[in-house]
Amino acid sequence: MENKKYNRKEFISFLGKVSLGVAIAPSFLMNCGNSNSSIISEGLSIDEINKLKKLVLEGLVASDKDDLLLTKGLYYHTLIKWNDKISDQDTFGFNCDFTCFIPFDEKHPEDGLLWVNHEYVHPLFVSNYAFGNPNEERTIEQVDKEMYNVGGSIVRIRQENGKWKVVHNDPHNRRVTAKTPISLNWDTPIEGKTTVIGTHSNCSGGITPWKTFLTCEENYDQFYGETERLNDGSTYHRASAFGWENFYKYPPEHYGWVVEIDPKDGTIQKHIALGRFAHECCTLFQLKDKRVVAYSGDDSNDQHLYKFISSKPNSLKEGTLYVADTNNGKWIPLDWANQPLLKNAFESQTEVLIRAREASKLLGATELNRPEDIEIDPITGSVLISLTNNKPKGDFHGSILKIEEENNKHDSLNFSASVYMAGGEENGFSCPDNLAFDLSGNLWMTTDISGGAMNKEGWPYMEFKNNSLFVIPRIGKDAGKIIRVANAPRDAEFTGPWFSPDGKTLFLSVQHPGEQTIDLKNPTSLWPFDKDNIPKPSVVAITGDLIEKMNNLHIIEKP
Ligand code: FEO
Ligand code: CA
Ligand code: CA
Repeated sequence: MENKKYNRKEFISFLGKVSLGVAIAPSFLMNCGNSNSSIISEGLSIDEINKLKKLVLEGLVASDKDDLLLTKGLYYHTLIKWNDKISDQDTFGFNCDFTCFIPFDEKHPEDGLLWVNHEYVHPLFVSNYAFGNPNEERTIEQVDKEMYNVGGSIVRIRQENGKWKVVHNDPHNRRVTAKTPISLNWDTPIEGKTTVIGTHSNCSGGITPWKTFLTCEENYDQFYGETERLNDGSTYHRASAFGWENFYKYPPEHYGWVVEIDPKDGTIQKHIALGRFAHECCTLFQLKDKRVVAYSGDDSNDQHLYKFISSKPNSLKEGTLYVADTNNGKWIPLDWANQPLLKNAFESQTEVLIRAREASKLLGATELNRPEDIEIDPITGSVLISLTNNKPKGDFHGSILKIEEENNKHDSLNFSASVYMAGGEENGFSCPDNLAFDLSGNLWMTTDISGGAMNKEGWPYMEFKNNSLFVIPRIGKDAGKIIRVANAPRDAEFTGPWFSPDGKTLFLSVQHPGEQTIDLKNPTSLWPFDKDNIPKPSVVAITGDLIEKMNNLHIIEKP
């Protein structure tokens, strides 16, 4: 779709309308800790409310400094870094992305389990392999180290005296890696298997109403390549960037899925019904009858937006996968049995799901500018989707797409689509990626200008400097402004924003600091400045007066 640029005035008045919406109070969203309006500070005096209304956020200016900088009223402490021990057997993986915290007990939100995705590795740091040097031989030991450092981590964390700490050796602490056996939640084997080896490329994710984690396999072709098709129907293997298939012959079709992990016992499965593509995230909505709707985007140039609607309560297997036609506001079913075009081109529903991109194009799905994270507005029910950029099409700064389902029903097959806000000079941000609503419905957004283009002459990104975290307050003096509240260290992006259930902590990953490093003795970043003198992807906990006040604003708008 075409991008529309909002000027500030238009944008504020737009958000103003949104804030008058009726709280739909979806019970699942209310309980998941990410968008929770159930905790409201009661009994504020008029004076206190007026003070909150006047709360002024002092935004940061862009920075190219190698540091994590926060605006006034915010503080951080580093919760866990790459290679930290989580138990006597296991260490924390590389390039952290999605985070999700589930307390053991709703009454004690300061103690629970944190899931963290580990998307990919920088081989120079992880396996001492100089990526891209054709003269260097790679060993299986190096590949094994890389395979260990992707996937995800579960760690028990606890807050003591205002600081979150990992409980070392807690029996729940475990790693999921590219070597973990994972069952397929499907009746037909894929490439002959019902259990496959490993998960990787774990970018963003989601949480289920039954309190399990979802982790999404995004750029899966970077590790085992892809099966490509020629016009005559014959296939060939497109090689991967990391070349793991030269050591382990796992088929590409085993990757590119949504994976679910039960934090209590580590049970893990891949959900085939949700389709195979570069899944950025998976955002669930539970309907009144307990059926679920799962939104997921395919983060690649000119790919699509999907939603799965289950036909049975709490199922991620029984149901239909749809793809979006945003030009006509229709969800198109990827249903082999009832779509003659699909019956002609594919042998079965399983094949349609494995080759979801091709099936979507065949049915006229709309090509989008790299759909990334998806969040459901807890006040209006609108679905927001980051479209990060599409450089070959000249969209350098991206935008946020808004989907309004017909009659605000998430299982509707009709919707309207519009531009919620556009990246670029005027709005002060570029390349939106992760989104999170806090307890008051303020929108938090991270950006992902790629390392190869950030702070580089010749690209239109100079003025934005390092990647950042922004907040868009819903009400009060700053309503509708896009305010930069944190700057990332050099080469890094912030990922995986997730609020603690009491809204007082924002967990945030700092992914790929120092990614442009080509010489270990001369890294481009030293954050988080520990004794090893190399950059380390880490998860931080952000707290402070500002977050607490932002989360309290909800009371003013309570209908
Ligand atoms: Fe891994 Fe689309 O970000
Ligand atoms: Ca992302
Ligand atoms: Ca991204």
